[in-house]
Amino acid sequence: MEIKFEQAKTLKEKPDQKKLGFGSYYTDYMFIMDYDKGEGWHDARIVPYQPIVLDPSALVFHYAQECFEGLKAYRCPDGSVQLFRPDKNAERMQSTHKRLCIPEIPVEDFVEAVKALVSVEKDWVPSEPETSLYIRPFTIATEPVLGVKASDKYQFIIICSPSGAYYEEGMNPVKIYVEDEFVRATPGGTGYIKCGGNYAASIIASEKAHTMGYSQVLWLDGVERKYVEEVGSMNIMFKISGEIYTAATVGTVLPGITRMSCIELLKEWGYKVNEGKLAIADVMEAGRNGRLEEVFGTGTAAVISPVGGLMYEGETIEINGFKTGELTQKLYDTLTGIQFGTLPDTMGWTVKVD
Ligand code: COI
Repeated sequence: MEIKFEQAKTLKEKPDQKKLGFGSYYTDYMFIMDYDKGEGWHDARIVPYQPIVLDPSALVFHYAQECFEGLKAYRCPDGSVQLFRPDKNAERMQSTHKRLCIPEIPVEDFVEAVKALVSVEKDWVPSEPETSLYIRPFTIATEPVLGVKASDKYQFIIICSPSGAYYEEGMNPVKIYVEDEFVRATPGGTGYIKCGGNYAASIIASEKAHTMGYSQVLWLDGVERKYVEEVGSMNIMFKISGEIYTAATVGTVLPGITRMSCIELLKEWGYKVNEGKLAIADVMEAGRNGRLEEVFGTGTAAVISPVGGLMYEGETIEINGFKTGELTQKLYDTLTGIQFGTLPDTMGWTVKVD
């Protein structure tokens, strides 16, 4: 793929790395590629970061034919920069495009685009502990037409944001509200893909949870509202009597790349990982009788996030005395060690950016 480059006239001042927050600052450049029916994906380019101008009738504004990904670039102790499993984001975006009738982008082109942009923006990869360059690829339907149909035109864009922890709590345990009124996904729907519509529909529940003092919502299955699925911005795992339980990614749950990596590590460490149906009633019961040892979320933005409390139908359970569990900490240390290059990458998960 040929990628053109347009030099920015001025470069931005970089923010204080100690006060980054999540997704609040953007780098000097962005990647764009267009799609036109009959021509395919074309005109890959890196241009100065700028607003995008679209016709008000562009399909994305009306019928939400759009999707996104999230990955990070990490600063290693030797100053080099690396990505974590970018091919997995590319594959997941293909599956998302397929579900939304958007023409797929070859995995190699997605990875090449991310690498090319991060290479240009290397100076923006922060080095303070727990900071990284969050990379947000997204695709939007741009055809100006009001009929409900697959667009004939798209833009694939990548922006980058130097970021710190996703949750204000950082690596401290979060409190989660188990949502039993609204649902996130049902079989046959879009729960397994990364489209903005999933997140738009979830906001009402997070607002409700926030007003009650909870950081996030734990979604139950959309049919019986009985089995645990995922949290608003991460997958979730439960350690009960020494075994790990997490929802299977069979149509209603996002196949998280951090989730997949944790499962691979856990299996390597000899844990039994049960991917399947876990009833919230069983989680609460395990919490009451002391068998619920640890609960943690996994996600690119959230990394490994310990869960200290769960609230369901008016009952609250505290997990591990509201302290980060031993396994949660080990997973965090191992995963971030590989990502930041402080531990050897025995799994072959990292990709250097030149
Ligand atoms: C990510 O973890 O990269 C995500 O896309 C979650 C997002 C809601 C912040």
